[in-house]
Amino acid sequence: MQDITLESLNATDEMVNPDSITRKLNDQIQLAKAFVVIAKENNNLQFASELSTQIDNSQILLSNTALTRSPLTLRESNTAVKDMALLLFQAQQYHYDSATMIMRLKARIQDLEEQTSLVTDRSSKYGQIAAEEVPKSLFCLGVRLTTEWFQQPKMQQKVLENTQTDPKLKDNDLYHFCIFSDNILATSVVVSSTSLNSKSPDRIVFHLVTDEVNFAAMNTWFTMNSFHGVTVNVQKFEDLTWLNASYVPVLKQLQDSDTKNYYFSGSNDGGKTPIKFRNPKYLSMLNHLRFYIPEVFPDLKKVVFLDDDVVVQKDLAGLFTVDLNGNVNGAVETCMETFHRYHKYLNYSHPLIRSHFDPDACGWAFGMNVFYLVEWRKRDVTGIYHYWQEKNIDRTLWKLGTLPPGLLTFYGLTD
Ligand SMILES: *[C@@H]1O[C@H](CO)[C@@H](O)[C@H](O)[C@H]1NC(C)=O
Ligand SMILES: *[C@@H]1O[C@H](CO)[C@@H](O)[C@H](O)[C@H]1NC(C)=O
Repeated sequence: MQDITLESLNATDEMVNPDSITRKLNDQIQLAKAFVVIAKENNNLQFASELSTQIDNSQILLSNTALTRSPLTLRESNTAVKDMALLLFQAQQYHYDSATMIMRLKARIQDLEEQTSLVTDRSSKYGQIAAEEVPKSLFCLGVRLTTEWFQQPKMQQKVLENTQTDPKLKDNDLYHFCIFSDNILATSVVVSSTSLNSKSPDRIVFHLVTDEVNFAAMNTWFTMNSFHGVTVNVQKFEDLTWLNASYVPVLKQLQDSDTKNYYFSGSNDGGKTPIKFRNPKYLSMLNHLRFYIPEVFPDLKKVVFLDDDVVVQKDLAGLFTVDLNGNVNGAVETCMETFHRYHKYLNYSHPLIRSHFDPDACGWAFGMNVFYLVEWRKRDVTGIYHYWQEKNIDRTLWKLGTLPPGLLTFYGLTD
């Protein structure tokens, strides 16, 4: 993990991509917030306060950029990234190191943010801008990698051949991980932190699914970097022809213009819906692909699903020998606190929800899960997801996102 922090620091220096710098700052802020909570729990108040100060610095930098609509200068962003990297490095020296801890914290941070409206307001403002505004004149990593891909027909051919023929991609004795993302650097952090912490990286296979726009760049990146010998395969979801509006309810619902208005203009609710729920990112097919894992990987029996914002800090091989007791989903429970029960995520005024789901059932994090695909197929879990997604056509069961439908879909199927 410490290597990763420093590595990506160099990458930032070199590649001068403003989008990746804002992302980097955002990622660092998320991680730093997690460490603030852990530091406080460990009674290290001095360090928690140092981290908080640096979080404020980075946030002010980002919101100033958003407000003045000028790109970050390299000098100020580099200073902020480096100062934060040093603190994060220090946090690791305190051995705040457990992947599951981070997962649990992710959910808790969200709650803390909801309670602190000021912070939420500020972060949604710059978050929105950071996600959308990519100054075009500046150099872009994605463009460079894409160009590289098209200049190297031999590399293209080899990569595409491997997708067809590499036996490792279907070998159920190996450790299969999947990530669905359009963010190369974030995905890269997940792949490298997983391989770095693995005792047998040669047994690891990463299945990445991205979109058309990022396909070439992601292939180039993972061909040019070796990541300790793990196998990496990249697909694009546009190639999955079964993923179409006649089969997939969210795609069908997207075609509904009412839904489009709701997401893109937000005008029909007088602006009451928080801005982040109107971000088109929440519509991304890549986000919903997690409900189709057995169909994306028809030959596999067991897969670990990772979100692209997970930082892995231990060997995950153990996840593949966990006994799921005949269940489909092995997940990290997030219910030490009452606010992570089902009632937090779902509309319990709705009779369908009330009659099917215990409001005090434990929530879990969708972001690091072991899925037993044999059982998933047998019980048609994707069908269950379709059922609930269709019931939610008027958005009264839950608003948006993938965790609420996940909680419904895997109810009673999670270990
Ligand atoms: C849509 O998906 C279904 C199955 O998921 C498939 O049978 C059908 O051929 C697909 N339609 C198109 C136009 O590809
Ligand atoms: C919750 O469900 C009830 C009953 O269907 C509905 O009237 C209400 O509008 C829903 N709440 C939200 C926030 O959608």
